[in-house]
Amino acid sequence: MPGGNTRSTVFREPYPVYAARGRGSRIIDADGVERIDFSNNYTALVHGHAHPRIVAAARRAIEGGSCFGAPTESEIRLAEALSERVPSFEQVRFMNSGTEAVMMAVKAARAFTGRRKIAKCEGAYHGGYDFVEVSVAPGEGQRGPAREPAAVPSGPGTWPSVITDTVILPFNDAAAATRILSAHRRDLAAVVIDPLPNRLGLIPASAEFLSAVARFCKANAVLLISDEVISFRLHPAGAQGKFRYAADLTVLGKLIGGGFPVGAVAGREDIMAVFDPRETGPLVAHAGTLNANPVTMAAGLAALELLTPAAIASLDELGGRCREEIRRAIGASGLPWQVSGMGSLFRIHPIPGPLRDYRSARATPDAAGVLTTIMTGLLNFGVFIDTGGFGCTSTVMDEGNATHLGWALAAALSADAS
Ligand SMILES: Cc1ncc(COP(=O)(O)O)c(C=O)c1O
Repeated sequence: MPGGNTRSTVFREPYPVYAARGRGSRIIDADGVERIDFSNNYTALVHGHAHPRIVAAARRAIEGGSCFGAPTESEIRLAEALSERVPSFEQVRFMNSGTEAVMMAVKAARAFTGRRKIAKCEGAYHGGYDFVEVSVAPGEGQRGPAREPAAVPSGPGTWPSVITDTVILPFNDAAAATRILSAHRRDLAAVVIDPLPNRLGLIPASAEFLSAVARFCKANAVLLISDEVISFRLHPAGAQGKFRYAADLTVLGKLIGGGFPVGAVAGREDIMAVFDPRETGPLVAHAGTLNANPVTMAAGLAALELLTPAAIASLDELGGRCREEIRRAIGASGLPWQVSGMGSLFRIHPIPGPLRDYRSARATPDAAGVLTTIMTGLLNFGVFIDTGGFGCTSTVMDEGNATHLGWALAAALSADAS
């Protein structure tokens, strides 16, 4: 296996840590070492590992047959549970990953509008679909002017039309974004927005930016696609409930599968009709052998039922405690670092300046290297976390876990300094 595993995100130098088991807030590696898991598989495990209710739901589903060449009631139940939470979710379709969900939402937008371009923000990650793999982490020499960002390919294999058909917006610059969008308005099918984009820096979108984008979309019949693969956990009605906007289509993944492979597109009935085989209008073929797999659907429903408003409130409170603990540890170290985030999500930055967009949040390669070293060092102090400093709380964590994070970070920082 190239790199020794099957997922670039979880590769670590000199080799990845292999997980053997998970239990509640703990991850146990192949050497038997137990640590507090602040990765929670990049937010997919909102209730930690092997939650008894999720395990029971998945086990019941498997015992009844793990997949069929037919739909099951379980997909209707999860679709209904999602629609009850978010007013804009008039209809739902399931797939197996967030990447697939983004791809299907973009295809739906193209079929519905008859236009081909999409817009996304510089530095925002929306999975591995070609048209959103543009300007995800552009280097300094490639980016172009701040108010007119260049579309930078993800690598040498990028097809040229991907670059011309993906329009790049500067995050949180309402005036520049509106100007860029207006220049492409006749060709634009959709704008893809994550209001708390993790890889960009976990910086919240400003109300001004979001309303400028929403206004543009409405005025020009361009679809607003909300990517809530991570940010859905911010509110019972998802990120759009938290940030107060209504998306035409929303992309979901991670937590709604209860720890099993999942993706979903939810949104306006007239747009979702492109997936309806009975329609004679624009049609998007949407097959997938394991779509709406009953094990995923059952586990996802159990996870969603456990994610009550009270559960979200305590997740968020603990997230706030983690950010405080991180701030304290950074303060004691004297390093010009900071932490961003919202609710149950946090991200450590090895830079001092104000965080506004991708460019202001981008650390130098040296600073990013130090952060990776410290996050790797946390392994020695009982904490498992993403090497880029991204973490989250789960509903099975407690204050002691947050305190431990602060202690471990302080210890890793002073071990590195000595
Ligand atoms: C915001 C966002 N969108 C889409 C994706 C892609 O989801 P998946 O990894 O399930 O393909 C991710 C994955 O991390 C994500 O963070």
